[in-house]
Amino acid sequence: MLTLETRRLLLRPYMSADADFVLDLYSRMEVQRYIGNPPKLMQNRSEALALIEAWHRRDDGTCGIWAVQDKGAGKLAGTLLLKPIPASGPERQPSGDIEIGWHFHPGSWGKGYASEAAAAVLQHAFDAGLPRVVAVTNPANSASMRVCEKIGLQHHGPTDRYYNTVCEFFTADAPRA
Ligand SMILES: CC(C)(COP(=O)(O)OP(=O)(O)OC[C@H]1O[C@@H](n2cnc3c(N)ncnc32)[C@H](O)[C@@H]1OP(=O)(O)O)[C@@H](O)C(=O)NCCC(=O)NCCS
Repeated sequence: MLTLETRRLLLRPYMSADADFVLDLYSRMEVQRYIGNPPKLMQNRSEALALIEAWHRRDDGTCGIWAVQDKGAGKLAGTLLLKPIPASGPERQPSGDIEIGWHFHPGSWGKGYASEAAAAVLQHAFDAGLPRVVAVTNPANSASMRVCEKIGLQHHGPTDRYYNTVCEFFTADAPRA
């Protein structure tokens, strides 16, 4: 997986040594509230280790799951995701679209970290040749919709085409060469 760097952040693969952070992040209702249908809180460190393993299997050189680290403090701040998004339907088949997503620790909210990391992953997606990236948010998730706007995604209103639920739908197309 390509390591990415921004002014304040390092985006790198998750390691098993990050399991305590992953558990802390995904066991919080304020983080999981708008993720999943219904939201599910992580219960223990084994689940965190299994998730880190599963994330490694998603790395195809373009798509992947990055641990976002504050370069100054050396602390982890959250997760950036670039991955195939499942279509609505009983089988949750791949839709053919690639989604970008972000999950940050409340201790790191409000510093512009999600937008800074997401802009770097969006640029990476286009540099790797993806023609289009989508994002979906819970309609009540104003902070996440604002991140979409800040990184230049176009808002298309609600859609039910993914995840068997109604989400706000955003897209970005690769800049023309
Ligand atoms: C969404 C999330 C990643 C934002 O993280 P962040 O690091 O605070 O994001 P940023 O600081 O880059 O930008 C957040 C923007 O939303 C705004 N914002 C925050 N809370 C808001 C709210 N309740 N209503 C409206 N805007 C809000 C901030 O002011 C900021 O915009 P600004 O820079 O114009 O002031 C973070 O809240 C999170 O991890 N939430 C839990 C997981 C989640 O829901 N992920 C998204 C799933 S689709």
